[in-house]
Amino acid sequence: MSNISNKLLRLDRYLASVTDYSRSDAKKLIKAGEITVDGLVVRDPAQGVAANAELTLNGHSLRAASSRYIMLNKPQGYICAARDRRHQTVLDLMDEDNPERLHVAGRLDIDTTGLVLLTDDGNWSHAVTSPQRKCWKRYYVETAEVINEQAQLHFSRGVFLKDDKARTLPAELEILGERVARLKICEGRYHQVKRMFGAEGNLVTRLHREAIGDIVLDADLAEGEYRYLTAAEVASVQK
Ligand code: URA
Repeated sequence: MSNISNKLLRLDRYLASVTDYSRSDAKKLIKAGEITVDGLVVRDPAQGVAANAELTLNGHSLRAASSRYIMLNKPQGYICAARDRRHQTVLDLMDEDNPERLHVAGRLDIDTTGLVLLTDDGNWSHAVTSPQRKCWKRYYVETAEVINEQAQLHFSRGVFLKDDKARTLPAELEILGERVARLKICEGRYHQVKRMFGAEGNLVTRLHREAIGDIVLDADLAEGEYRYLTAAEVASVQK
């Protein structure tokens, strides 16, 4: 079963999130009968709408472009691949037409939770994932051992990871507690965060992606739920 049908967002909130209208302006537009949802005029701001609903304002589609840009709150146990014989994939959480056209912009490991971006726009996902574009990925990290304060310096200089030829690019480590930290990296090497902490003799026990560039995981999305990005979120990644 997909999560989109379970996840109905209030129409006024949804409208405010996909446009520049404030919540109160969105309510006025809805009450004035200017909004349609999947072809029908809806006048109740509290009505639930699905994340992939087609909204129009005065007959104009509110989708910014024909491409799709989606954020998903990934639970543990799902892999970031189109299909897999053994595991469920993030696409199994979605109720989208032509899901095979979507790809993940920056994969997470099966046991990592949090923000996953999916799109059918290859230029956009390249801007998200290419190290040259310096798009930050922010992770919340818990570790088995006490985090060495020197790790801050090591990560800011870059570290050599086993089998990699070059140091990691400068990364920012904020130590939040003995075994808790926030790490910002602008690459997406294989198991990068786990291997960086491994290089410090530590073990990552929990990893959660909170943000990619200016796109922050929506606190309203429960694990397994997703929504379309707002036009401002899409534009925050410079193609
Ligand atoms: N780094 C990791 O080690 N795993 C992830 O899932 C993401 C970044």
